[in-house]
Amino acid sequence: MRLHVYTPGQAELSASTAIVLPRYTDLKEGWGDTLIAADAQALDAIIKDEGFSGKTEECYVLPTPGSAYRCIVLMGLGNFSSFDAEVLRRCAGQVCTAVKSHKIDHLVLDASVAEALPVEAFIEGVILGSYDFIDYKAKPETPVTIVSEISVVVGSEEGLDELREGCARTAIVCKNVNWARDLANTPPNGLTPTKMGEYAEGIAQETGLICTLFDDAALSKEGMNGILSVSQGSSEEARLIVLEYRHPDAEQTLAIVGKGVTFDTGGISLKPGTGMHEMKFDMCGAAAVLGAMKTIGELKPKINVVGVVPAAENKTGAEAYVPGDIITMYNGKTVEVHNTDAEGRMLLADALAYTEKTFAPDALVNFATLTGAVVVALGHYAAGVFANDDSLVEELQLAAQASGERVWPMPLWDDYCKLVEGTHADLCNIGPPGEAGSITAAAFLKNFVDKARWAHVDIAGAAWGGKNISYLNPKHATGYGVRLITQWVLDESTH
Ligand code: BES
Ligand code: MN
Ligand code: ZN
Repeated sequence: MRLHVYTPGQAELSASTAIVLPRYTDLKEGWGDTLIAADAQALDAIIKDEGFSGKTEECYVLPTPGSAYRCIVLMGLGNFSSFDAEVLRRCAGQVCTAVKSHKIDHLVLDASVAEALPVEAFIEGVILGSYDFIDYKAKPETPVTIVSEISVVVGSEEGLDELREGCARTAIVCKNVNWARDLANTPPNGLTPTKMGEYAEGIAQETGLICTLFDDAALSKEGMNGILSVSQGSSEEARLIVLEYRHPDAEQTLAIVGKGVTFDTGGISLKPGTGMHEMKFDMCGAAAVLGAMKTIGELKPKINVVGVVPAAENKTGAEAYVPGDIITMYNGKTVEVHNTDAEGRMLLADALAYTEKTFAPDALVNFATLTGAVVVALGHYAAGVFANDDSLVEELQLAAQASGERVWPMPLWDDYCKLVEGTHADLCNIGPPGEAGSITAAAFLKNFVDKARWAHVDIAGAAWGGKNISYLNPKHATGYGVRLITQWVLDESTH
């Protein structure tokens, strides 16, 4: 995406440009200097005749033959009192839809005509809203013009440099959200754990991160039997992927861990067939971590960040682990397997213990499509956050507020921890059926973190499937986590 921030009169207009004019329902401002007088008059007429009120996500496209631009898009922002950045993201998503059939490759947002627009949110809505995944279509559908350039016109020179910086940063983050979505949308036969390791190496080469890959032999040598047990039912090898970003002036080391189950059949405790294909998304935690590490490698903040991904397929081969198996995990604790479909926690347990022991991070946060139960609790509009430290939850809530990727705090009291104690081993990999499934999963993970400040973010709902979010096509993965993690890392970095 090409990006410009201008003061009035500087934007270059062409026959494939749309001028986007924001409008609140309750604040009537002028039309700005980008428009010619005739068009301004036409707009006044439209607002009267067509009943454009400026309500949220309302769009009106006015073709303007004879002007230096192709059309004008009126973008309703709703009431000023209830307006925020998320409203603008969604309005921008609607603009993407509205201009789709109008051969537009350049949007010019005239932000000089509406008060206090968080223009970064517009850029997010456009970049995320223009996303599609067509790599596997044999013949492209009728070619559509896609937006490849955004210009923002602001009223004054004041703060222009910071705004330019902020917009450029936003564009990098969103490009990498879309990269993570590509990774997530890739089918299981196109994205094995081995392949995921190669993608991580690619990131390292591009951005200067250090990449270490553990294959089956190395995992075995380390005693990472949680990861290996899940993977042994598959003919594909497992991987533990470690990406390290270091800054010489760093005062903290943060660690992020992402569940990378490239396909989850449930294993011997097989899942029902209906909807099983969606389990290709069971690596969305990994996509978030890899997408965030790529972003961090590009933005180079003053902080150290380690990204760790345990990757495996959960399948039903002759060697598959079975209910009743007792596994000795990386940290020495033993786990009785009562359900092979509770595989994410087996992988994460080893990855968390390894990450804490190896890097002693100041904070450790994992992202995982861990439970169907969190979808029951929160639907697709927030991730559940579970932690052993309240201040870490607060940090994540602040980052969620700023990034638009919601987290909602969930409890992790000792009563829940008792529910995953084992009968014949230290722990059982599931709690009692039908009882607080997302919390008992978190309680299980807690046993694999020693002293670190730790949070678990269950993204099973947030990673795909949300409806009515205009900038997130519901057919595809959302890339949830890249924006949140990046925001948190930037907040924690020394400026
Ligand atoms: N990957 C699933 C969780 C999941 C389910 C994510 C549906 C998104 C949508 C996870 O590995 C799983 O199967 N969890 C089980 C745990 C149960 C066996 C205790 C679940 O949620 O049913
Ligand atoms: Mn499972
Ligand atoms: Zn799973």
